[in-house]
Amino acid sequence: MVMNIILLGPPGAGKGTQSGLLVTGHGMRQLSTGDMLRAAVKAQTPVGLRAKAVMEAGELVSDEIVSDLIDAELAAMGAETGAIFDGYPRTQAQAVALDDILAKHGRQLDHVIELTVDEDALVERITGRFTCGTCGEGYHDRFKQPAVEGTCDKCGGHEFKRRADDNEETVRTRMAEYRAKTAPILPYYDERKLVSRVDGMADIALVTTAIEKVLRG
Ligand code: AP5
Ligand code: MG
Ligand code: ZN
Repeated sequence: MVMNIILLGPPGAGKGTQSGLLVTGHGMRQLSTGDMLRAAVKAQTPVGLRAKAVMEAGELVSDEIVSDLIDAELAAMGAETGAIFDGYPRTQAQAVALDDILAKHGRQLDHVIELTVDEDALVERITGRFTCGTCGEGYHDRFKQPAVEGTCDKCGGHEFKRRADDNEETVRTRMAEYRAKTAPILPYYDERKLVSRVDGMADIALVTTAIEKVLRG
């Protein structure tokens, strides 16, 4: 069965980490608007040029830009591949747009998984985060170090990088944006009985197990 699921949660909740783990074995692809925007910034595309300063400030990029990115990705994806929406939708307008986009591509939403987390822990999670510069594998100074220091577990690369918006001040703005604009879309999905809540404070592997339980229904 082809599934389409949304992972919802504040910055640092583990959306990217869990998406990366869930794509293996479930025939799904991770669609992260944050990753798409960072790629656009790096490539200096027109979208990237518009998004750069907004992202560095921790504010939300326009609804139209991100919905167009998602629409284009789904258009390019085979109908047999499911989708994990990571960091999208983030506003009521995006939630409505996603319904239209899914309908257009003959898909339907199966689950909205809210990762519930304790806000104080998020700043530490985010400021300790880094990724492999070669393959993108995610790590953390305290919670997930490479097995051999300085060497990526996945690809053996030695270059690591940190995100431009992963400083404490920007994280606070990102959290405020989440509270003001993203958390209020939960009732939209609650009404349709699509929301499951998973404890995002548990160990990474336990969070995956809990999500897989939801997916099995
Ligand atoms: P985006 O890239 O989506 O960032 P975010 O929502 O702030 O979320 P993060 O990626 O920071 O956190 P995550 O939940 O993926 O956590 P992770 O798994 O890495 O967006 C960035 C910016 O782009 C936005 O601010 C905005 O400007 C723009 N943007 C993107 N989408 C947009 C949209 N739809 N509309 C408008 N603008 C948009 O985990 C964090 C760390 O914690 C990692 O190091 C990980 O190893 C560790 N960790 C994870 N889980 C656990 C655990 N259970 N226990 C211990 N450590 C853990
Ligand atoms: Mg992420
Ligand atoms: Zn790597």
